[in-house]
Amino acid sequence: MRIPRRSLIKLGVLAIAPLLLAGCSAAVGLDGPATTINPAGDQARRILDLMVPIFWMALVVFIVVEGILVYTVFRFRRKPNAPIPSQIQGNTQIEIAWTIAPALIAVVIAVLTFRTQADNAVLPPNAIHITAVGHQWWFEFQYPDGGPEGKPLLTASDMYIPVGKPVIITLKGQDVIHNFWVPKLAGKTYMIPGKTNYLSFTAEQAGIYHAVCSEFCGEAHALMRFRVIALPPDQYDRWLTQAQVAPANPPTGVGELNGDPTRGQAIFLDAKRQCITCHAISGTAAKGVVGPNLTYYGSRTTIAAGLLDNTPENLAKWLHNPSSLKPGNLMGRVITPDWVKQNLAEQDIADLVAYLRSMKLSVDMPVASK
Ligand code: CUA
Repeated sequence: MRIPRRSLIKLGVLAIAPLLLAGCSAAVGLDGPATTINPAGDQARRILDLMVPIFWMALVVFIVVEGILVYTVFRFRRKPNAPIPSQIQGNTQIEIAWTIAPALIAVVIAVLTFRTQADNAVLPPNAIHITAVGHQWWFEFQYPDGGPEGKPLLTASDMYIPVGKPVIITLKGQDVIHNFWVPKLAGKTYMIPGKTNYLSFTAEQAGIYHAVCSEFCGEAHALMRFRVIALPPDQYDRWLTQAQVAPANPPTGVGELNGDPTRGQAIFLDAKRQCITCHAISGTAAKGVVGPNLTYYGSRTTIAAGLLDNTPENLAKWLHNPSSLKPGNLMGRVITPDWVKQNLAEQDIADLVAYLRSMKLSVDMPVASK
């Protein structure tokens, strides 16, 4: 069979197009939220330093193998009226060569990998300690440095760290196996119930880094995200000092969405409204431990574990019907549209929004990484 030249050209373009397009998207996505090729942390940088030589080795192997294959296809293709070619049975020298060559490449990759793994496993002695707990479907952060009332400082979905100082994250799983991944800062690490893992890295630049759960953990796995907020050390200290003190009484007067923060707090603390069954706020009677701690909720960058920007409108939407935004979430099993109709008036929701968003820390947030 003779392949027309134009078909061959088209075939060639089709074969090369994905490579060119991948190149474009890599360039555009260089500063993307979840890229590993533009690291901002020492651990992610070491992983990239491993990935690059392996990529080039793989590319050389690909070109050599495909080159020989394509050459063979054209050079030895069947020609009209050609006789049957001479029949051969293996070639010992070639067999030995193509056994040893890949083995050598695998050994080089293994040595490089072990070296990176060993470097990334080091837990520096002067690090800041944070415990991260994976829950279905949100991330909790505990600062043993001490929060309000002599207990660890608890927060969720936003993990604050200082720039230029190593942190050691103690990783735990509350219910099922989750996975802690901040692509620009560090490699993935499992959060396993009953087994504690450790991860250490240093953020090299201030920023708000997107992070995700990287292990399938149930219905809302794809919506289980968080942010790592890396602040200059003086700003981090400012954040920590403020966060260690319980929020002041809610401001008087009209707040966001024309809600009344003081009335919002009373609604929040009213057991019939269910908030305190699961949530805690330092300095109040709310001590629930099932859901995220909501102290200084107004300073959270997101709502629903990284899903939505923290705006009054989004918070009101969430309180009306959590399941419509994040199917599967625990809160939505109780706070259904029917339940809301019977237990929360529009004004109640506005008051809750005004209260929750009134609890704010004064921190100069870094520019978000897109
Ligand atoms: Cu947690 Cu996926």
